[in-house]
Amino acid sequence: MTTQASPAPAVTVAVLGTGRLAHALTTALAARGVPVTMLSARSPERTRALDADLTVLAVSDDAIGPVADALATDAAARAAGHGSTAGHEAGDEHEAGDEQGPATGHGVVHCSGALDLTPLAPLAADHRLGAWHPMQAFATVDTPIAPGVTWGITADPGLRDVLAELTTTLGGRPVLLRPEDRARYHAAATMASNYTVVLVDHAARLLQDCGLDARSALDALLPLVRSTLDGLQDVGLPAGLTGPAVRGDVGTIRRHLAALAARPDTAALYRAVGLAAHDLLVARGMDPATLAAIDAAFRDPDAPARHDHGDPTPPAHGDPTPPDHGDAAPPAHGDAALRDCADHPGSST
Ligand SMILES: NC(=O)c1ccc[n+]([C@@H]2O[C@H](COP(=O)([O-])OP(=O)(O)OC[C@H]3O[C@@H](n4cnc5c(N)ncnc54)[C@H](OP(=O)(O)O)[C@@H]3O)[C@@H](O)[C@H]2O)c1
Repeated sequence: MTTQASPAPAVTVAVLGTGRLAHALTTALAARGVPVTMLSARSPERTRALDADLTVLAVSDDAIGPVADALATDAAARAAGHGSTAGHEAGDEHEAGDEQGPATGHGVVHCSGALDLTPLAPLAADHRLGAWHPMQAFATVDTPIAPGVTWGITADPGLRDVLAELTTTLGGRPVLLRPEDRARYHAAATMASNYTVVLVDHAARLLQDCGLDARSALDALLPLVRSTLDGLQDVGLPAGLTGPAVRGDVGTIRRHLAALAARPDTAALYRAVGLAAHDLLVARGMDPATLAAIDAAFRDPDAPARHDHGDPTPPAHGDPTPPDHGDAAPPAHGDAALRDCADHPGSST
């Protein structure tokens, strides 16, 4: 599904921070015609950020509070020096007394997914506050903002619409979040993104145990992960789940766990994630007896396996099984070590 970018709202933006998100955001806003500057949050120059309509704190989560403190001090100094709140010109459309928010109407937002507006409290008297988080992973400063990204927004009235408009300008999807939901929302993002990396790391170590070097191990797994995501995109949940659990292949699960005995951390992760597939298997219509055998295998590799004695495993009842492209490591062409691994007794898939 594509998301159409909408025309940019008439706001100026200052991005504080020079890291990954700061670069991505500054580049994307500039490309869409939004006047934007990027400034280091450590430099005294940061005070210029208060001249923009919207100041974006794209700094580490733990730095948001200290940077907000510093900006509040900057703003107070400017107010004392110039007789006005920083950046607030006479005739500014955001007049003091505006019933929708604080005095100037200038917005200050952070980009943390998990934090509410509390770290920005030092600026509350004179600014509308918000949190504006893209649900995307930025691995480098060159990672561009992707289309179709959901941006979690929590903001004071009056700033919400601006953030939503900027989001659609960037080709994203705005989602309003209650402050108390942000940690839950960000836990979802962390599980889907960061924990995928953790799982791939454990999988790569197993392939290295089979003799692949680190890069070959990752290269073997990436097409598998991509095809898994493609399957999720195509058929969604729960149909996007493939592999031995959804097939009811208890014997394969037991063989996996036996093979993981030398790596207890990986075995614990395998069991935990396997058990967590329970609800997906229910949603796929797996019959209760097979489901119980699967759960038991994940809990205890020595548990009796209902379908582990050469009997043809019946398909899960009502199982709309999609093409099963995600249950076996793809061949690493020309890599004898991987073939040896696949041929090793007890490691078949
Ligand atoms: N990267 C992602 O995938 C991603 C995705 C969504 C949201 N976010 C959010 O975006 C924000 C920035 O993350 P990022 O990944 O872009 O971080 P990053 O690449 O590590 O950059 C962090 C920035 O914060 C600055 N900083 C750190 N401590 C500071 C301090 N005490 N005072 C002033 N500046 C300080 C750093 O300055 P120095 O370089 O001088 O240390 C740097 O410019 C975070 O709130 C994060 O949760 C990140």
